[in-house]
Amino acid sequence: MATGETKTISALERLRDEALAGGGAKRVEAQHARGKLTARERIQLLLDEGSFEEMGMLKVGRGGALGNEGEYPGDGVVTGHGTVDGREVFVFSQDFTVIGGSLGEAHSQKICEVMDMAVRAGSPIIGLNDSGGARIQEGVDSLAAYGEIFHRNVRASGVVPQISCVMGPCAGGAVYSPAMTDFTFMVASNSFMFVTGPDVVKTVTHQEIGFDELGGARVHATKSGVAHFVAANDILCIRDVRKLINYLPSNNRQPAPMLDLRDPEDRVDPALDHLVPLVPTESYDMGIVIHSILDGGEFLEVHAGFARNIICGFGRLGGKTIGLVANQSAVLAGSLDCDASAKAARFVRFCDDFNIPLVTLVDVPGFMPGPEQEHGGIIRHGAKLLYAYSEATVPRVTVIVRKAFGGAYVVMNSKHIGGDVCYAWPTAEIAVMGPKGAAEIVYRKEIASAKDPEAMLEEKLEEYREQYVNPFIAARRGYIDDVIFPRHTRRRLIRAFQVLEKKKAVEPERKHGNIPL
Ligand code: HXC
Repeated sequence: MATGETKTISALERLRDEALAGGGAKRVEAQHARGKLTARERIQLLLDEGSFEEMGMLKVGRGGALGNEGEYPGDGVVTGHGTVDGREVFVFSQDFTVIGGSLGEAHSQKICEVMDMAVRAGSPIIGLNDSGGARIQEGVDSLAAYGEIFHRNVRASGVVPQISCVMGPCAGGAVYSPAMTDFTFMVASNSFMFVTGPDVVKTVTHQEIGFDELGGARVHATKSGVAHFVAANDILCIRDVRKLINYLPSNNRQPAPMLDLRDPEDRVDPALDHLVPLVPTESYDMGIVIHSILDGGEFLEVHAGFARNIICGFGRLGGKTIGLVANQSAVLAGSLDCDASAKAARFVRFCDDFNIPLVTLVDVPGFMPGPEQEHGGIIRHGAKLLYAYSEATVPRVTVIVRKAFGGAYVVMNSKHIGGDVCYAWPTAEIAVMGPKGAAEIVYRKEIASAKDPEAMLEEKLEEYREQYVNPFIAARRGYIDDVIFPRHTRRRLIRAFQVLEKKKAVEPERKHGNIPL
């Protein structure tokens, strides 16, 4: 910079122009050619028009341990705050056009600055990740820089919602920041996440595997569960982030925004009375119940492609955000396996963190049997869900739609573990185990000594169903607050949440519990 130029308007303009240009026209072109937006274009789409206030635009690095000059525009990340439908959020957006969006000291300091401000201001933090990872030229400083971010992710957890979008590379230890945030979005075809890339995999395990197959969006949305949402491109991804934000409170002290969708609270849906098939082994789509009861039928499903035997997501009842967990009868009969338990446990904990009331719709034949599940840790993972529900202090209302067998009945937000209100449809089957297994144990002798064991089993099955498998026994015991008409489910839920609105939970004094991880 020429002497005397520092204090002039033109110097300011030049510095700002340099920052705004990022890595220059050629690299921006390359970014677009891949179907990716630039860091600034993404921010523009995310925030309400004209609301972005940039922070640290002129910040640059002080040079790396390995002696590079260290001056890159914005040090490869754009940070600041703005509004989403009028509510403040903080954002950082890594600029792949500037030294591959790699993360060095100044880059990290900028991210940490907005994270700290987000916590102080009580606003969500949204990270748009597109980075080659730790800046190699800055050596150990860049590792320290990651550590600073990880630490803040944990400190902010449960204080303000944290959302990550992976919109390009995200490799090595860098994956652990998105992994510790509340929700991770990925963009199909342009993003990948892995701890060790295909080359290292080949060296260590001699396996040949491509980027997408190892850590692409589809894999993380269906197999690993790392990604909660997948979008076809940057534009749709950012649109979905805005949708999610609208369901969430800004922090753990404020309520979620109200949205009146003009859906009458006492709307009845007679079709629900005939939804559950009479044959117990026949399945149906629990999504029908969900869309029927929520305001305007609107539901934002989380982890839609992962562990599809359980459904988690956000909707509204009477204008207020609720978190919903439901067994999906149409997938694995709605049974609880390792992935479903962990998925729902994390969701329940998020809702509890941010005071979002919980609806649980139950149709669960039990935990998934078999050595694969046992050896995969169904005891440990199932315990997560049990723990998450048990510790949740938000208003919790359950509706047992059909099966509620064994331990899975207890786990799925029963009153025994602190559920506030539990309703059952007349089709509910609440029992220690399914009729067949139970009849074969209880009536084993009669069946074995019968002339026609098959006929005897059928007879005993009927007897067991009559005597044990209905909602009225549990209702007589007080485990069910009421057996309701399915068509009235929406109204009954809204009333239950109204009465629980001021719920106060008294917690024992402790540092924190020890969830079975
Ligand atoms: C410095 C980097 C960089 C990095 C990319 N660049 N990654 N510079 N440090 N980590 C630079 C490139 O030199 C190049 O500069 C520009 O960014 C674009 O990179 P390309 O390779 O041309 O782009 P592309 O072909 O799209 O490949 C993208 C990529 C590749 C797959 C991300 O760049 C790559 O493999 N980078 C290294 C990834 C990595 O191993 N990172 C460390 C992971 S370990 P020019 O000037 O040519 O445009 C880690 C530890 C974190 O992150 C630990 C936390 C505890």
